[in-house]
Formats: sequence, structure tokens, C-alpha cells
Amino acid sequence: MTLLCAPVKQFKQSEKVDLIETIDKTLYQQGRPRYVDVDWKTPVLPPGDVIVSYHNYEETPDLEAVLKILQQAHPKAHFYKIATMATSTLDSLRMLDFLQKHPKIIGLCMGELGAITRISAPIFHVPIMYAPLCEEDINAPGQIIVDQLQEIYHFSQLNPETKIFGLIGDPVHRSPGHLYHNDVFRKKTRNGVYVKMVVRPSELSDFIDFSKKLPFGGLSVTAPLKEAVIPFLDEIDPTARDQGAINTLVFKKGKIFGYNTDGDAALDVLSDVIHKTIVILGAGGAAKAIAYSAVQRKAEVVIVNRTADKARSLAESLGCGWSQTIPKYDILINATSVSMPIDEDDLVQGKTVMEIALYETEFLKAARRKGCQAIDGMPMYLKQAAAQQELWFDTFQSNRRCC
Ligand code: ATR
Repeated sequence: MTLLCAPVKQFKQSEKVDLIETIDKTLYQQGRPRYVDVDWKTPVLPPGDVIVSYHNYEETPDLEAVLKILQQAHPKAHFYKIATMATSTLDSLRMLDFLQKHPKIIGLCMGELGAITRISAPIFHVPIMYAPLCEEDINAPGQIIVDQLQEIYHFSQLNPETKIFGLIGDPVHRSPGHLYHNDVFRKKTRNGVYVKMVVRPSELSDFIDFSKKLPFGGLSVTAPLKEAVIPFLDEIDPTARDQGAINTLVFKKGKIFGYNTDGDAALDVLSDVIHKTIVILGAGGAAKAIAYSAVQRKAEVVIVNRTADKARSLAESLGCGWSQTIPKYDILINATSVSMPIDEDDLVQGKTVMEIALYETEFLKAARRKGCQAIDGMPMYLKQAAAQQELWFDTFQSNRRCC
């Protein structure tokens, strides 16, 4: 069990946390001093239970080497605390891998990229995690206030059997995945936690190596990794292979399986598309999946993309049309990564216009202005996310202890 500790500017009791840490670094439990936290360079430890701390606000160095230094400096510490700055998500996974080998270390990565180390502390037997009661009490970069930790991530219900899920890609900040998936886990008593992680293409190989060593159950994959992730998979669902893009990973029996839930989700939102002309803007991972499903459902598909060669090769692989200008359409879908990839004049009143991004793009705004039947990205998001939950369900079968 991980005790939650609130750093406070002025001492105050709170039932929301187990410990209160005051400015002089004393940690109080039920009003009494419980631990005192001292920097590892302190020559002589004070009496009582002492946490010997190492802070590095620049980087996450070799963690084994840091621990050795702390143990040599103060072999009798009650706990060792190692707080380092995450300059990438890989630093955070390195910290989790280290904690996995050293239960009872208070280890965490600071900064926004360190969020997963704070959230998943109970999974790694971390004895104390710091979570301020309010924004004003934040005293280290990346701290998550206790209400968010509990209400979004259900921190107190996480335990060493909890599986980690999440979103990888860059950017990830617009995704509501942490809200949606953690809510489903709780309502369906699935012992999982979902965390968004910035992962850039150059980090993907190392990320996958770390993920295999950690208790991952599954991942959502977003741009720009939907195609890049394919070489790292052990098995690929035949439909996803044909689509040439992956948005869901499942970790099972030591293997990583790839699926795609985007295409069917988009087409389910549109319902009846037989013989309708669907123009898809873009030829990246999302466009491929949607175009594939649209062709399967007997729509007349035309791909339009900034880079014409990519439009042509996608169209050839699917046996559909492509164009350098926007032809007449019944349905127009923006599957590019930009807010407004076309001229407003190409939007036609009364036609169905769908956006897959999760914010109010210029494309959506213009579609509404023009009197199109505008569909934002949320219905598709919810359908593809529900399908991901179904794919992940199996990963809980081997271990059902929850909450
Ligand atoms: P995703 O996985 O979400 O589909 P992606 O694979 O990075 O993301 O694809 C992005 C799509 O947006 C591509 O079709 C890209 O066009 P190119 O193939 O020409 O790169 C398109 N795109 C990106 N920036 C664009 C821009 N400024 N104007 C028009 N299209 C753009």
C-alpha cells in the first residue's frame, strides 16, 4: 500500500491523505511526527525514522548508482527517496523498471513526463507518494493534486496486480482517454489504470523494450506512431494488417498484438454508406483505417491528400479512387492532422462533414457556418475506445483481483 503525503505550506489535517509534509520536511501522521526527510548530503541523521532523499531537477541519471551512493552515505535510513526530472517518457519507464527491482524505494520522476511514475506508485510498492491538496501547495514540478489522483486514476484502489494501459503518441494532450478508460475500468471493476504518455517516433523502439519488462496490459496508439509501431508487433490482426495502421496494442502471454478500431468506429458513426461517395482527406494512419472500412462497406471512396503520391498508392492498395481536387461527395472526412486542410468553398451545405480530431478545428467551424451536417470527433472516439476495452478485456482474465 502506498501512503499519500500532502506537502503543505501551513500545517493542516486532511482526511484525503495519510501524511502531511510541512516546509521543514517533517511528515506527520495523525498530527504526530512520523518521518523526517533529509537531503542525502546531511552528515548526521536526526533521530527517528528518516527518509534520505536525492533530488535531481535536471535529469534522470543512472538510478542504481544513485541508490548505491545513498545507501553508502546512510545505511540506516528508514526509506530512500529518489526524485529525478523526466526529460522523456523513457526516463519514467526506466524509473518504473528500477522500482520494480527495488520495492520500498520512494522513487518518482518530476515534470509532466513523469506523471506515470506518480500515478502508478501502488503498482510498484512505492511506500509514499506526494500529492498536494490544492494547486497552491504544489512544491515540485509535475505533482498531481490528490483529488485528480483519486477521482481520475483511482489511486487508492491500485495495487501490485494492476495492469497499466495508456496512450502513446505526440501530442496526446487533447485525448480524453485518461477520463474515459479509467472510468470504464472502475465501473467494470477491471484492475487497470490508463495514463497518457508522450512518445516520439525516435523513442518508440526503447519504449517497446521497456514496456515488455513492465506490467502493461494494452496501449492506444495515436499519431505519428500508427504505422511506425507495426515492426515491433509479434502478431497483427489481419484487418489491421490490410489497413496498414494500428491504434490498439494488447500485451498478452509475453507477446504484443496489434489491432485497429478506428475504421469501424468512423463507419459506425456514419451508419449507412453503401454507394455513397466518401471523400477522405489525408493518407496517414487514420485515413488508411477509415478508407479501408469504407471500401469494405461498399462506399465509393476517393482519397485526397497533400502529397498526391501517397493518395495514389493508398487508393491503388484499396482499389478506390484518388484525386488532387475535391470531387462531389455525400460525406467528407478530415483525417489529416491539420485544422483546415481545404478551402471553405469546398464545403457544401447539407452534406455530411466529419472531423476525427478531438477539438473544434477550423474545418468543423467552417462546416457549421456552411450549414453542413457536422460531426465532431467525439462519437468516433467513444466507439473506437469501447472497442479497445473489448480487446483489452482478455488481459484481465489471468488476474482478476481488483479494487
Ligand atoms: P494519423 O496517424 O493521425 O493519420 P499521420 O500518419 O501523421 O497521422 O498523417 C497525417 C496526415 O495529415 C497526412 O495525410 C498528411 O499529409 P502528407 O501525406 O502530405 O504528409 C496530412 N497533413 C499534415 N499536414 C498537412 C497540411 N499542412 N496540409 C494538408 N495535409 C496535411
